[in-house]
Amino acid sequence: MAGPVPDLDARANACANTIADADSMVLASHIDADGLTSAAIATTALERAGLSFEVVFKEQLDATEIASIAKREYDTVLFTDFGSGQLDVIAEHEAAGDFTPVIADHHQPADADTEYHLNPLLEGIDGASELSGAGASYVLARALAEVVDADVPQANRDLAGLAVVGAVGDMQAVDGELVGANEAIVSEGVEAGVLHEGTDLTLYGKQTRPLPKLLEYASEIRIPGVSNDESGAVRFLDELGLDLHDEAGEWRTWVSLSDDEKRTVASALVQRAVERGVPASKIDRLVGTTYTLLAEPEGTELRDASEFSTLLNATARYERADVGLAVCLGDREDGLRRARTLLQNHRRNLSEGLQWVKNNGVTREEHLQWFDSGTEIRDTIVGIVAGMAVGVEGVDRDRPIVALARKNDEETKVSARGTGPLVGRGLDLSVVMREASQAVGGDGGGHNVAAGATVPAGRERDFVEHADALVGDQIG
Ligand code: C5P
Ligand code: C5P
Ligand code: ZN
Repeated sequence: MAGPVPDLDARANACANTIADADSMVLASHIDADGLTSAAIATTALERAGLSFEVVFKEQLDATEIASIAKREYDTVLFTDFGSGQLDVIAEHEAAGDFTPVIADHHQPADADTEYHLNPLLEGIDGASELSGAGASYVLARALAEVVDADVPQANRDLAGLAVVGAVGDMQAVDGELVGANEAIVSEGVEAGVLHEGTDLTLYGKQTRPLPKLLEYASEIRIPGVSNDESGAVRFLDELGLDLHDEAGEWRTWVSLSDDEKRTVASALVQRAVERGVPASKIDRLVGTTYTLLAEPEGTELRDASEFSTLLNATARYERADVGLAVCLGDREDGLRRARTLLQNHRRNLSEGLQWVKNNGVTREEHLQWFDSGTEIRDTIVGIVAGMAVGVEGVDRDRPIVALARKNDEETKVSARGTGPLVGRGLDLSVVMREASQAVGGDGGGHNVAAGATVPAGRERDFVEHADALVGDQIG
């Protein structure tokens, strides 16, 4: 039977058959929203297939981490949301008979080959915008349901919601909408009754933020007199003449509004934006595609794919991947409570990180711009901060941004972010990060539009120089 992404059927079947035959297995995944949802999808599919396995999470898969996995002597290792970029090292372990690798990933593969490798890039599907790690894991889960002799609910189609959370968490929605293979997964989720694809306000926080906060914190599309303006946002809402408070006198949330009330607020927002000269192209982006997880209660982070993914990043990027995984697997008690506490901390760190960039600014080289936050920004979130910084005052869209953060005494973490138009001109940050880091004794990789690396402490300036020259070769 055909899976959701027919071009990947053959690879998915080969991977599923290998997993089904494993004697002992470990599932290794990445510590971000996409890695967690990948692990949750794989975990559920393996359990439903009656297979036993263990789970480990890694911040970065490198030779040391792969060797530590190999030492544990599982006959099969399932890598999700990473593995392709480290294929050279993994292939050596495979050749040495350490384990059989099965990889469900979407990163740029390193220069090596292996048999059980499910990656969109190997079939001409874009790994940065058309399929995430969670999407690849979903394709695998769908294939596994077909090859095992077990009664699998909905043939694992109910896992499509998590796949969408992973894709949204990896910023794969182009202009707010999932495309390509991701779109096929959305359709399966809608058909399975777990997902709703709708048109709504695109602002972040529709489920959980009180209305003034929803508008005040809207950083994606700045509306003068409302965005970043606490009393302005309240005044704007007060002037609408609607009753926007609940029985307890608290501000309501967007999802609690009736359709009529939503229309009134949305059209007033658009009108305000027009009056204040916001460009039409930006105003269009106020409304877009949103993905709702129908099994989750309204008014919770879990209901909205974007809010869910932020909640997950708040766990895994703070060494609590176990909490995020538990939430993905259905823990709505202790796990969810802990995740929400972590979310508050994550939000504070992001806003302080962004403020640090605004205060300290970036340095412009010929072809890129960069900042080094030292130990001021946590290395696990410096990439998110870099992405948020693009477009703020002093940070241009016309060149990639490279962000550095000290990881420990020996190592510095690098995160690089580009834009669609730069990729269109030939930018491939995965190549830039890999080659510039290797030139100074580190390693890296990722996607054309977003990539990262680790470099030895003290070699940061050399690294930036190499990266600048490489970007120049690509788009200069
Ligand atoms: O390791 P992984 O593939 O899961 O991470 C992808 C990273 O790339 C995420 O941090 C995501 O935010 C970033 N990204 C981006 N812009 C895009 C696509 C991905 O910043 N257009
Ligand atoms: O860590 P960051 O969010 O900047 O990562 C951006 C992308 O680069 C992710 O897809 C990540 O998996 C990848 N990356 C990598 N090798 C590294 C660091 C990041 O492949 N050493
Ligand atoms: Zn990913």
